[in-house]
Amino acid sequence: AQIKELQQVFIAWYQKNRRNLPWRQSRDPYFIWISEIMLQQTRVDTVIDYFYRFTAKYPTIKALAESDEQELLKVWEGLGYYSRARNLKKAAQQIMTEFDGTFPTDIEEIHSLKGIGPYTAGAIASIAFDQAEPAIDGNAMRVVSRLYGIDADIAKPASRKIFDQVLRQLIPVAAPGDFNQALMDLGSGICTPKKPECETCPLKNFCFAYQTGQQEKYPVKTKAAKPK
Ligand code: ADE
Repeated sequence: AQIKELQQVFIAWYQKNRRNLPWRQSRDPYFIWISEIMLQQTRVDTVIDYFYRFTAKYPTIKALAESDEQELLKVWEGLGYYSRARNLKKAAQQIMTEFDGTFPTDIEEIHSLKGIGPYTAGAIASIAFDQAEPAIDGNAMRVVSRLYGIDADIAKPASRKIFDQVLRQLIPVAAPGDFNQALMDLGSGICTPKKPECETCPLKNFCFAYQTGQQEKYPVKTKAAKPK
């Protein structure tokens, strides 16, 4: 009952407060993928312009697969971490040769694409294909650790399994993409690392850290997490 109520409150909050972002206008896995790769190391406000320019120049998987690498890197200029752009092209070529040009729907196959790790595979599977897969990044671990008072060290790769298990209990099968994006919005806008804005949080009545005044204790993190 507690979980169902949390899901309802959270999804309702997301539908009312969701940021109107260009990649949220579409369920096309290609657009979801490009946005998730850009968002890995870059802030939402910066990504918006790049997303428009990139998808205008490369509107399809095929166009990206056939892109000129120098031009591709030029479009990426300013975003940094250029291996992301090179991997996008390689993965697009992989989709053309291994998947007949159609973005794969199976999460293992999505994960097999160059540059797509567990987080991005979960984000695409849930947002584009309605699959109840978690998308676990630092934001998701922070929110969930506070919600349930989980003191697993988020710097340790083994802790991921704990968050995976908890999130699988929590994701509503009816709206997995909305749920994951609600976590992203909550983590970046309200449940921030420092001075979270708990008074405006839709989950405050469910939140262990808030109820016990221990927001700053979570997440437990021993050493700096390695960048993805
Ligand atoms: N950060 C990572 N993925 C995101 C998304 N789909 N929407 C907003 N912020 C994000």
